[in-house]
Amino acid sequence: MQKILFVCLGNICRSPLAEGIMLHLKSKHNLQLEIDSAGTANYHVGEAPDRRTIANAKKKGVDLSSLRARQFSAIDFENFDKIYAMDKNNFKNILALAKKESHKNKVSLFLSGEPSYEDEVPDPYYGTESDFENVFWLVYEKCEQLAGIKEL
Ligand code: 4NP
Repeated sequence: MQKILFVCLGNICRSPLAEGIMLHLKSKHNLQLEIDSAGTANYHVGEAPDRRTIANAKKKGVDLSSLRARQFSAIDFENFDKIYAMDKNNFKNILALAKKESHKNKVSLFLSGEPSYEDEVPDPYYGTESDFENVFWLVYEKCEQLAGIKEL
């Protein structure tokens, strides 16, 4: 079973959204995946996702309310097969913790190959309602693609 980890900065907006969407797709399509998320920072450890992220996802039938933030740590390189960073800063900070080439090779940008977003999921934290809406669909479509459900 493939184990995948999504990583952003605070683990309250983008990566728990990806985790919740992937869990949703897993139950809908019976996918053989293990899924988790984490943040490179420790600001929000133990907290539920941002209430705007939860509310927006809930409208689309994705329940994030039971997720809790945790910080990324080097042990995650052992525990996961694929580690997806939500932006380039997080990508760089994850790689800085990797001591082995095999660990570095597990890390990629979640939106790699999406030139219109310069390979980054925009952080909606300081944004508006429509930013949360846009990020939801951006993450949803990419998760479908990663799960092999849909080609972008
Ligand atoms: P996330 O968004 O990395 O998508 O969870 C953020 C959440 C919190 C903060 C920054 C980004 N913060 O500065 O507290």
